[in-house]
Amino acid sequence: MAYYYDEPSHTFSEYLLVPGFTGPENIPANVSLKTPLVRFKKGEEPAISLNIPMISAVMQSVSGDRLGIALAKEGGIAFIFGSQPIESQAAMVARVKNHKAGFVVSDSNVKPNAKFTEVYALIEETGHSTIAVTEDGTPNGKLMGLLTSRDYRISRMTGNELVKDYMTPRENLIVGGPNTTLSSANDLIWDNKLNTLPVVDENDHLQYLVFRKDYDSHKEHPNELLDSEKRLLVGAGINSRDYAERIPALVAAGVDCVVIDSSEGYSIWQAETIKWIRQHYGDNLKVGAGNVVDAEGFRYLAEAGADFIKIGIGGGSICITRETKGIGRGQATAVIDVAKARDEYFEKTGIYVPICSDGGIVYDYHITLALAMGADFVMLGRYFSRFEEAPGEKLVVNGNTVKEYWGEGSARARNWARYDLGQGKKLSFEEGVDSYVPYAGSLKDNVAMTVLKIKSTMCNCGALTIPELQDKAKLTLVSATSIVEGGAHDVQVKHNDNTYNK
Ligand code: IMP
Repeated sequence: MAYYYDEPSHTFSEYLLVPGFTGPENIPANVSLKTPLVRFKKGEEPAISLNIPMISAVMQSVSGDRLGIALAKEGGIAFIFGSQPIESQAAMVARVKNHKAGFVVSDSNVKPNAKFTEVYALIEETGHSTIAVTEDGTPNGKLMGLLTSRDYRISRMTGNELVKDYMTPRENLIVGGPNTTLSSANDLIWDNKLNTLPVVDENDHLQYLVFRKDYDSHKEHPNELLDSEKRLLVGAGINSRDYAERIPALVAAGVDCVVIDSSEGYSIWQAETIKWIRQHYGDNLKVGAGNVVDAEGFRYLAEAGADFIKIGIGGGSICITRETKGIGRGQATAVIDVAKARDEYFEKTGIYVPICSDGGIVYDYHITLALAMGADFVMLGRYFSRFEEAPGEKLVVNGNTVKEYWGEGSARARNWARYDLGQGKKLSFEEGVDSYVPYAGSLKDNVAMTVLKIKSTMCNCGALTIPELQDKAKLTLVSATSIVEGGAHDVQVKHNDNTYNK
């Protein structure tokens, strides 16, 4: 006979935290959100920790290299989407690893013989008015000069003039050499009253531009996640089919951690993928697995050697898995159940396997609830897709600025998606939708606000760390009626975009 669970499974919105005692030390500035990313033995330190408990979803519309850079600077880690060719995924990983704060690879480049019509087209395309002039017109070609809006008067130009007649030529430029650091670049900028400093290699090939305006913003990242060589950390999604080709390319690009990306992870395929990684990389390559929604799935993947385990089936905002396949579990119940199994596993083996709540975070407080229920960190798709740095197109729809956000199981992503790859299926069905989300600005500003909300709730619960929150949290289920009471009610809200409390 089929097994029936005693209780219905619940979502985050059905729970609230009941405050605990707040002492004088319980102020947001004292709260640490540091949390383990990968398994560790009792008494030892995890090989990788996060400074904020947030990682980005393995999705085309979420985790590209720009988001990877922005998130690592704030203390989280992005998992670059795997639903793309191996070479382009590895190139994205490499771009995050090679990122030097304040050093920008020039995106507007022309040859000396280019006409001004080409310059105007570039400015239109990139929105940047500082143009590098290189011998071959590439970002890393031999530096010939620099063209800025101060070099020409647009009202006097016909468009047919040549760049070389207006640019500041190489011999008049002050440049940084191969060993330039951000602070030495800044000194050159200030001492010479520059706006832009080109940085070249020993052969005078352009490497980067450093902009005066960027310097201060690059000092504002106290939570930055860096490896031993001071490079940003980045993860990548893999699948259980082409890992033997994909992983070596990702490792060569410098990936710090991979995650097996699957909507249902309690499977032999995941165990075999982890086994292959251990055979080829030992413990040096960290690998997350999932998704599971119960203790049984957790134990299977923990025993298979997963470094962290993701929880969640069907809760994602773009997800229609529950509707199409009838599988899943309320996200809160799944987290609570798996957290219990994680603690039991730790008790029994002395090995702590971090767990990640993946999908279904709508309000910032859902993150705090997930942590209180035992998650070590959360994976977010919709949340990050709204930001400037996410790969989706920014559009104006019905007067509102939106970004595109599509599921990995949607028709749009499906050529590459995990749902129907490699199983030889001709017939397949969608498990996700293509959608718009309200544009929300920069990752940095939004994450700062979310982090403040989490810390402030932790103060209400008398907790200074995530383990302390998990220990002290008091959670209550709420009735359907009190959920109504929880929002603004019996008033006419002046702005109706429903984003005031998210
Ligand atoms: P969100 O944060 O609620 O938007 O959920 C993001 C999560 O949804 C991802 O991390 C995946 O686990 C899951 N997901 C991504 N694409 C799809 C899809 O097309 N169908 C079902 N689930 C998806």
